[in-house]
Amino acid sequence: RDELMFSYKGILYPITICSAEAFKALESFEARSDDVILAAYPKSGTNWLRRILIDLIAISQKKTPGEEGSGNAEKPEEIPYLEVGDPEKYERMTKLPSPRFMATHLYPENLPTSIFRNKVKILLLIRNPKDVATSFFHFSNGVAIFPSYETWDDFFTDFMSKKVAWGSYFDHLAEWNKYIDNERIITISYEELKEDPILGMKKIASFFGFSLCEEDFSRIAKNTTFKAMKEKSSETHGKFGDVLFRKGVVGNWRDVFSEAQNEEMYRKFQDSLGGTKMAAKIKY
Ligand code: PPS
Repeated sequence: RDELMFSYKGILYPITICSAEAFKALESFEARSDDVILAAYPKSGTNWLRRILIDLIAISQKKTPGEEGSGNAEKPEEIPYLEVGDPEKYERMTKLPSPRFMATHLYPENLPTSIFRNKVKILLLIRNPKDVATSFFHFSNGVAIFPSYETWDDFFTDFMSKKVAWGSYFDHLAEWNKYIDNERIITISYEELKEDPILGMKKIASFFGFSLCEEDFSRIAKNTTFKAMKEKSSETHGKFGDVLFRKGVVGNWRDVFSEAQNEEMYRKFQDSLGGTKMAAKIKY
């Protein structure tokens, strides 16, 4: 683990894609009020929502995703995670047309302050911690940027003690909970999107002010099912595709969790988030 991760302000990040220099440069990043930000702890469904947002933006602009002028949404040369890439990335981003799309796994306190000062709208995506941990375990073992684990139990221990990339799931959501009443932030869960994707998309579109018709929503829903996205994954995500689009279901934690781990996580969830509005939104 020590060779693959570095610590910045007490949180671990993968050394191959993040750097202290980029984090420093990010501090003075100037957000635009019409930027579209997707915030999520890793493995919460970021790539799924990213695809949905890109399509919502493009179609509401009567453009095809990726077409000139449809925002930076699908420009492959720019990694969509705000904190991932080289320090010069932020200078290049000043040249991108609006609306710029960006995703982030950062805690809100580590985001550039201009995001809050300029009242940028943020979609916060949340997912049940047990499925997040399960997904994270398999992903860690499937890609070289993260440490691999011999056993699920070893990963569980690291996940519970913030020794994984981007820090603690529980701290991440406790920090975001401070912003939960902010009118510029909408929270949506992986589980509610799975249950009724069109309803979820309509909520998101109305929050960002994207205007689409029924047919558009159905088309996006069809193109963003797990199956549809997995089929295209080597095209869209290269060698990461297969590991990233793994199961795409709710409740896969049952394959790996012991009863004791289930109880331990529930206690941790209650200790960190119990009684908060955030906890009420998580389909535990
Ligand atoms: S990352 O690496 O942190 O950005 O991963 P992230 O994209 O946040 O999360 C990956 C999980 O999201 C699942 N996924 C989907 N679920 C449902 N529908 C669609 N279209 C979809 N696309 C991705 C993906 O399969 C990962 O979850 P698991 O449980 O591992 O399958």
